Amino acid sequence: MVVRVLAIETSCDETAAAVVDDGAHIRSNVVASQIDLHRRYGGVFPELASRAHLEAIAAVVDQAMREANASWPSLSAVAVTKGPGLPGSLVVGVNMAKGICLARSLPLIGVNHLEGHIYAHWLQPSGWAGSIVRRLEALGSPFPLLALIVSGGHTELVLMHDHGRHELLGHTVDDAVGEAFDKVARMLGLGYPGGPAIQQAAQAGDPHRFPFSRPRISLSPKTARVPHEALLFSFSGAKTHALHLIREHHGDANGKPTHRTPVNDIAASFQEAVTNWLVEKTVLAAEMHKVKAVLVGGGVSANQALRQKLTAQLGAAVSFPPLELCTDNAAMIAAAGYFAFMRGVRDDLSLDVAPDLKLGL
Ligand code: KG4
Ligand code: ZN
Repeated sequence: MVVRVLAIETSCDETAAAVVDDGAHIRSNVVASQIDLHRRYGGVFPELASRAHLEAIAAVVDQAMREANASWPSLSAVAVTKGPGLPGSLVVGVNMAKGICLARSLPLIGVNHLEGHIYAHWLQPSGWAGSIVRRLEALGSPFPLLALIVSGGHTELVLMHDHGRHELLGHTVDDAVGEAFDKVARMLGLGYPGGPAIQQAAQAGDPHRFPFSRPRISLSPKTARVPHEALLFSFSGAKTHALHLIREHHGDANGKPTHRTPVNDIAASFQEAVTNWLVEKTVLAAEMHKVKAVLVGGGVSANQALRQKLTAQLGAAVSFPPLELCTDNAAMIAAAGYFAFMRGVRDDLSLDVAPDLKLGL
């Protein structure tokens, strides 16, 4: 019998719902993006995000059910992102999921958003041969696996020992890498979202013109939640360095670039530095734990420089799902929800949002 999960995701700025069978087959995957709403602020504006979720959520769930051609009685469970994320945004999805479970007597499963990014690799959308994980599974256990999650809100290295058994190996001590891309793009006047804009500008720039010095990060009780400082990340120094470069190279009185500022070279050098740091630490973690494969998720995994370097430098196999499954979506939450459901995980109507939820601690 098919195990069919309806999933809802509202942790940040995408209102998303999906119907997935057996944690693999995507029957529908609807994402309503708020990018245009937040563009003028150069980032996600939380108050606006939660209102936009509230306006969109019913129609998005309805569309996901219709596109899936799924009836309510055909559902086995409802999965929803409980955290981490913006509190006011998470609440909209969690309440919607609770309402559906109450009305339809369905089991409710709260999912960690980061676990969702990892489980995107278990999905088998048409047109994609499927992730390395499915091929490893066919040969036996795919574990241990290493996940690199890089987005506007996250920079994490997670070791996966088994389904539901995660260990946090690395995280950022300040900005997330996508946040750094967005902020540097804004300083350079390249627009929002910053990642694609920096990547494009970098194509016409010299990545070696401005060396960015490697951040020195040490374990302190405040910043570190992991055993090895070598696997910690920091991006705020790179951001400050980019600002200095603009000021030094014909920036105006407000530190804004002028037509004489080498915007493309700064973008290329910034991208070169941060992708190198991501790759070095991922390679180190993969070797330390002798993982069978590395699963990359989050919006920054769209970055071509990152993809090329990881593929070239990793000894282990590396998996990048199709882009629409790398960025925030509900199909990945359905996949994570399916595996939790099969392990017997159930939540009840007291499920609360967990904006600071961690994975693998
Ligand atoms: O996963 P995502 O869609 O949303 C969350 O933040 O959860 O990731 C969005 C982030 C943004 O910071 C965006 O600038 C970055 O992913 N991004 C990229 C690229 N495409 C998107 N960063 C670098 N290079 C790209 N090509
Ligand atoms: Zn995400």
